[in-house]
Amino acid sequence: MPALRLIFLSFLVGVWAAACGTDGRRPLPTPDLLSSGTGFRQAAVVCAHPLAAKAGRLALLFGGNAVDAAVAVHFALAVVYPNAGNLGGGGFMMYRPAAGQVYCLDFREVAPQAAHRTLFLDNKGRPVPGLSTETALAAGVPGSVAGLAEAHRRFGRLPWYWLLKPAVHLAEKGFPVTARQAEELNENAPLFRERNPKCPPFVAPRPEGWQAGDTLRQPELARALLGLAQEGPSCFYTGWIADSLEAWMRAHGGLITRADLQAYRPVWRRPLHVLLDTLDLWAPPPPSAGGLSVLQMLRLQSLLRWPPQSLHHPEMVWRYCHAAHLAFEDRYLYAADPDHLPVPVELLLDSAYLLRRYRTLELHRFAPWPGRGSAAFHESTTHFSIADAEGGLLALTTTLNDSYGSRLCVCGAGFLLNNEMDDFSVAPGVKNLYGLPGSPRNAVAPGRRMVSSMAPILVERRGRPFLAVGTPGGTTIVSTLYLTLYWTLVLNQPLEAFHSQKRYHYQALPDVLFHEEGAWSDSLAGRLRTMGLVLRSRAPIGRMDGLQRRDGLWYAAPDPRGDDAAEGF
Ligand code: DON
Repeated sequence: MPALRLIFLSFLVGVWAAACGTDGRRPLPTPDLLSSGTGFRQAAVVCAHPLAAKAGRLALLFGGNAVDAAVAVHFALAVVYPNAGNLGGGGFMMYRPAAGQVYCLDFREVAPQAAHRTLFLDNKGRPVPGLSTETALAAGVPGSVAGLAEAHRRFGRLPWYWLLKPAVHLAEKGFPVTARQAEELNENAPLFRERNPKCPPFVAPRPEGWQAGDTLRQPELARALLGLAQEGPSCFYTGWIADSLEAWMRAHGGLITRADLQAYRPVWRRPLHVLLDTLDLWAPPPPSAGGLSVLQMLRLQSLLRWPPQSLHHPEMVWRYCHAAHLAFEDRYLYAADPDHLPVPVELLLDSAYLLRRYRTLELHRFAPWPGRGSAAFHESTTHFSIADAEGGLLALTTTLNDSYGSRLCVCGAGFLLNNEMDDFSVAPGVKNLYGLPGSPRNAVAPGRRMVSSMAPILVERRGRPFLAVGTPGGTTIVSTLYLTLYWTLVLNQPLEAFHSQKRYHYQALPDVLFHEEGAWSDSLAGRLRTMGLVLRSRAPIGRMDGLQRRDGLWYAAPDPRGDDAAEGF
C-alpha cells in the first residue's frame, strides 16, 4: 500500500510541476520542514479523506491560494469520498482572502422548473414514502460544479485543468478504500444494484464484497471529470454531461432538463456577521439556516452573560437546550430561500429580539408545530477547511444530502445524484430525513433553493484569521458548531482537543437530548433527567474538520470519527 501511495504522490507532484513549469511566473512557497505534528506554519488543509487532503496540499504548495486548493479538494472528494463529495450536489463556501473581506458563495441546488408544492404527495394529499429521497424526483439541480467554477473564476490562480487532474487520476487509476469505506460500500451494495440496474456504481471486486485496501476505479466518473477539466463547467451544464443527465431523467421519471441545468447560477451572498467582543464570526445567510442558528445561539449566550462552564455541566446543557430550541423554532418560522421570500436576518440576530424571545420560550413545547417528533441522523455531508500561505482562509461544506445521495447514478457520467429535494417541506409538518417538520415557507417551488443546516464558519480574532470550522450531520451541524465555538471561543481551549469531548444535540422536535455514548456519568445524567430532559444516546455526531491559528501556526483538527486527515507545510 505505501508503494501505491508513493507512486500516486509522485504522479501528483509531476502534474503540478508540469503545471507550474508552464506558468513559471509564480514563486513557489518553500515548504517549512520544521512544521510538525498538526501545527503548520504557512498553509494547511483538513478534510474527510487523506488523498483529497494531499491534493489540496499540493495546490497550496505550488502557489495556489485557498480557492485553488478548494477546487482540488472538492473534486478529489467527489472520487475518494463518494458518500458526500460530489458533482451532483451543492453547498456553501466562506472565503476570506488575505485582503480581509469575507465572501460567501451559495451553490445550493434549486428545484427544477417543473417542480411544484405538491410534488411529493399522492392524489389524496398524503406524502408518498421515499419519493423525495429515493427516486429521480429527489434530485435538485446540482450546483457544485458551477459553484467551484465561479469561485475559481473570481479568485483562482492555478489553471482549472491542473486542479482537476488529481481527481481524474484517482477516478481512472483507482485508490485503495479504507476499512470504513469497504464497510459502507458493502452495506449500500444492495441499494446501488437495485436502483441502478443499468450501471451499478461501486461494484465490488469479488462476490464477498469490498475489503480494506481494494482498489476502487470509477472510469465513467473519470471521463466526466476529464470533460470538466478540459471544457470547464459548460460540459456539465450545456455539454455532454447535461445531455446524459437529461436523458437519464427522462428515462427515470425525473424533472431536471437541459434548460434547468443551463439556468443554474451560484449566488454570492452577503455573509451573516456577528461581533462578539474581539471576535468576528462569519456564516452563510439563508438559504442556510444553520449559520443563522449558530450565530443566534452564540449571540444569546453572550447577551445573557452565561458564565463559562464545561461542555457537560448540567447548567451549560440546560442553557444550550434553550438556545437550540429558540434557533430551531425560528428556523421553522422564518427560514426560506431569500430570493423568493424575505428572511429578516437582522431582526433575528438583534439583541432586543433575542432577549425578548428567550424570555417567552417554553422548553418541551415546539410552538410552531404541535406534532411529536422522531429524528434519524446521517453523517453524510462533508466539510473542509483551508488556510493558504498568503493569509487566505476558507471553509466549505457540501453534500448530496443522504449518504451517497439517492444512490442513483447518472449512467455514462458515473456520478451520484443528490436527494436534496427532501430538505424542502414535503407538506406542512411532514418530517424530512433529519426529523425537521416541513414549514410552509420552505415549500417546493420552481427555481427555489431548499433550506439547509450547512454552515461553514470563519472567525477572526482582532481582525486576523483565527478559525475555520464546519461539519456534516444534518440538523446536528448546528449543535456541533455551537459546541466547537463555545469550546474554542468561550472556554479558550485548543480546537484539536474538542474532538475528545462527547457531543450532544437538541432540536426541540423531538423533545429529546441526543448524545454520544458516555457523555455523562450516571449521576450527571440523573441530574439532567431531574431537570426534565429526556436523554437518548446515538451514534457519533458530526465530523468537524477545522483549523485554528495559535502562536503563529495553523493547528488542524481532523475529526477522528471518520477517515479525516490534515496536510500542510
Ligand atoms: O442541507 C442540509 O441541511 C442537509 N442536506 C445536510 C445533510 C447532512 O448534513 C447529512 N449528513 N451529514
